[in-house]
Amino acid sequence: MGRSSRVGTQTTWVTYQSVIGDRSSLFAAIRDAWSPSTALYLGSYVDLSPSTAIPAVTYVDSDRRAARFFDDRELVADQLRGRSDPGAVTEFLCMDYTAELPLAPGSFDLLISLYAGPVWDSGSRFLAPGGLLLANNSHGDASLAALDPRLSLEAAVKADGDRYRLDRAELDTYLIPKSPLHADPDRIRSQGRGIGFTKTAFAYVFRYVDSEAWTVVIGDD
Ligand SMILES: C[S@@+](CC[C@H](N)C(=O)[O-])C[C@H]1O[C@@H](n2cnc3c(N)ncnc32)[C@H](O)[C@@H]1O
Repeated sequence: MGRSSRVGTQTTWVTYQSVIGDRSSLFAAIRDAWSPSTALYLGSYVDLSPSTAIPAVTYVDSDRRAARFFDDRELVADQLRGRSDPGAVTEFLCMDYTAELPLAPGSFDLLISLYAGPVWDSGSRFLAPGGLLLANNSHGDASLAALDPRLSLEAAVKADGDRYRLDRAELDTYLIPKSPLHADPDRIRSQGRGIGFTKTAFAYVFRYVDSEAWTVVIGDD
């Protein structure tokens, strides 16, 4: 019997799937499109799905139940067995992601913000120039990203149960506010939720096209 079926009432990625489903196909689609090597997931709880597709993922959450799950390395390995590369690395920080995180600036290829946040304000500094932000709109990150000139939309994520796919066509039809007056970053932050868009998606993938950061990287060569 694997550890997955011997954990009693402990919250694990497998038990959490009864709430959120299995998002592995979302991260497989992102891997197939852009091959990110590293990801930072702020407000991850126990959602281990990125590790099925991305070689090195750092998870951050302040919830002790998440810490208990990730601290059990054998259990994490058991739930990923046969579903990730053998060399996949998972790290967990039990921290408030608005605090000073012990991570190198600009060191991640992908920043993940799903049903938490907004995390973009705290997490943008850790994203590499040209990196990707995966964000949904529940806590406002997709709305803030849509208004941030450092980001450009790469794809909308469509979901059908556990099946996810990227829509990279007609991107200018997404992220159009139903009420343009609501498209105000201060308002979105104070309300802690996204604004309504005329066309919806599960989430969005943005590219960090910060020209100043690119200049620094190119200048280092
Ligand atoms: C609604 S859950 C979403 C979990 C997961 N991202 C998902 O999509 O299922 C939000 C998570 O964000 C975490 N969270 C919220 N604010 C946080 C903060 N400032 N620092 C660290 N974790 C935070 C909570 O502990 C919780 O686990």
